[in-house]
Amino acid sequence: MTDRYAVFGNPVSHSKSPRIHQLFAAQTGQDLEYTAILADVDGFAAAVRAFAAAGGRGANVTVPFKEAACRLADRLTPAAQIAGAVNTLTFADGGVAGANTDGSGLVRDLGGNLGADLRDCRLLLLGAGGAARGVLPALLAAGARIVVANRDAAKAQGVVAELRRALPAAALRTAALSGLSGEEFDIVVNATAAGLSGSRIDLPGGILAPGVLAYDMVYGRATPFLDDARAAGAQPADGLGMLVEQAADAFELWRGVRPQTAPVLALLREEVPQR
Ligand code: ATR
Repeated sequence: MTDRYAVFGNPVSHSKSPRIHQLFAAQTGQDLEYTAILADVDGFAAAVRAFAAAGGRGANVTVPFKEAACRLADRLTPAAQIAGAVNTLTFADGGVAGANTDGSGLVRDLGGNLGADLRDCRLLLLGAGGAARGVLPALLAAGARIVVANRDAAKAQGVVAELRRALPAAALRTAALSGLSGEEFDIVVNATAAGLSGSRIDLPGGILAPGVLAYDMVYGRATPFLDDARAAGAQPADGLGMLVEQAADAFELWRGVRPQTAPVLALLREEVPQR
């Protein structure tokens, strides 16, 4: 019987995950079906349980359900536990396992596809919501020295304090957005939702500069962050590679086979040009 997987989100119709997983399945000769399921904002757990009861083997989880997926899981990987967010569920006899491949996907995109050296690099992470929390453990594990800055500074302090309890030796601190003046970074990752509303993040001059990799986790749209990066001579990168890499990590978790991401990313890139 064909194994069934799905991505749960709201909205979810735009999701490229079904396409990516079908391409991975064709490439690796795996027999599986992968669909997108729209769950009610307050009906996520029921929808997931119904899917698992009907024979679903695993699921990806996107906005706004990643924290709910974390609560629903019976077991968590350390990265998911520290992040408090889950994007990959696996259903097995022993219950529901929760993992977070967003962080490992970002690390693979930065370090593999984009050639960045994360060990001891100076990384500015913008944002303190679920997207930022999801990637912090993997970025730290890859050896980045991280400053978290957020419009709501108290929220960034809360996220960092929580991470420090789990990882006391982490190279991690917060800074106010306005207090970044004079600091230098190798990589700036935008994990805020600012790009989705076309809003600009007020960064002091000099943060986005030649030699800096400016990564926006959003893809498929021009964002003021990427525009500013380009104007400042920094190297802009959108989140399409992260999307494909997090999917590959999920696929490997479920199927025990590692798909090649480069051909899939190249195909998607034709449809989703970097803006
Ligand atoms: P997600 O789960 O996608 O991270 P979230 O938890 O709502 O979504 O977090 C959104 C993040 O984007 C927050 O860090 C938010 O900043 P605040 O904590 O100050 O609200 C950030 N964000 C959203 N719009 C922004 C904007 N216009 N400028 C700067 N940051 C913005």
